[in-house]
Amino acid sequence: MTTPKKAPLASLAASLSSGFPGSFPRVRMRRPRMQAFSRTLTAEHTLTPSDLLYPVFISDGITQPEAITGMEGVARLPIDDLVKRAQSAHRLGIPVIALFPRVSPKDKTADGSHATHPDNIVCRAIQALKTHCPEIGVMVDVALDPFTSHGHDGVIKNGQVDNDATLAILAKQATTYAQAGADIIAPSDMMDGRIAVIRDALDQAGHPQTMIMSYAAKYASQLYAPFREAVGATPLTEITDKKTYQMHPANSSEAMREIALDIDEGADFIIVKPGMPYLDVIAGASHRFPVPIFAYQVSGEYRMLRQFMNDLDEATSRKLVYEMLIAFKRAGCRGILTYFAYEVASWLKEG
Ligand code: PBG
Repeated sequence: MTTPKKAPLASLAASLSSGFPGSFPRVRMRRPRMQAFSRTLTAEHTLTPSDLLYPVFISDGITQPEAITGMEGVARLPIDDLVKRAQSAHRLGIPVIALFPRVSPKDKTADGSHATHPDNIVCRAIQALKTHCPEIGVMVDVALDPFTSHGHDGVIKNGQVDNDATLAILAKQATTYAQAGADIIAPSDMMDGRIAVIRDALDQAGHPQTMIMSYAAKYASQLYAPFREAVGATPLTEITDKKTYQMHPANSSEAMREIALDIDEGADFIIVKPGMPYLDVIAGASHRFPVPIFAYQVSGEYRMLRQFMNDLDEATSRKLVYEMLIAFKRAGCRGILTYFAYEVASWLKEG
């Protein structure tokens, strides 16, 4: 016995409207999309200047901003210009500025010890910011790569980036920056155990209020290339990549373990880096861990978008950047480190 088959659409319509008076489709998902007010009303996420952390490159030995060829629209700043930038970023509502130094080659050594000198460029920049723009949060990268002659984030021993020998220097770097007035220490080196060691060192040095934002899930990525040019990182020698400490791009469970460990060791906040290709990691982490998660939209992502923007008009470019940033909010981020921060905050102000 066979039941005669109705045309599939007609049978769907009949089953949906059976028992209900009225027309098909009863549920119209497009209804709230029809007007601007109801699109705004039903938006699940928003992007505001307070979501933006602003990474800024600084350099010794310059008196004028210096263009970075691989990062159109971004410049290395002398400390005076950094202060002015921070003041206007603060007026735009950006809560945090993150400092990345280009260190002069004469200050680079195998052990990166200039990172621990209280008068290095980072410390002087922190002091200038805390004097002239105390309201903005100052975040600093803790890792040795801008300071090492071989370009690695730690010290090299027996042909390896040596985890435990690096920890003591990182702890010193962190306390030196905290002493200079840094609000947030952001370890980006990926050594094991560094959050615990840094937390202890900060507490013992009298900085229990200094926050730690850990680059807990940092991948060995090709997207860092423009950044390395921007900070004048020496080409990696001895060991030609960072794969023994940064994560394999194939892994996400491992990221959850990294994050859990860093929270356990005392991290206040977590960074996932790079951003866009790792939205799954951000979403997984934000469901699992009740700590603020931040994304770092890195230099290569910035460059890709900038190049695309060269093909677009201004209004479309702005919508593109907004779409890329709201994706991070949707994935569960509390905020985003982005080289677009200043521009986006000014666009948002314009409305
Ligand atoms: C240094 C550091 C890097 C970035 C931030 N901190 C580079 C690296 O690990 O090689 C990259 C940021 C970017 O590409 O925008 N530890």
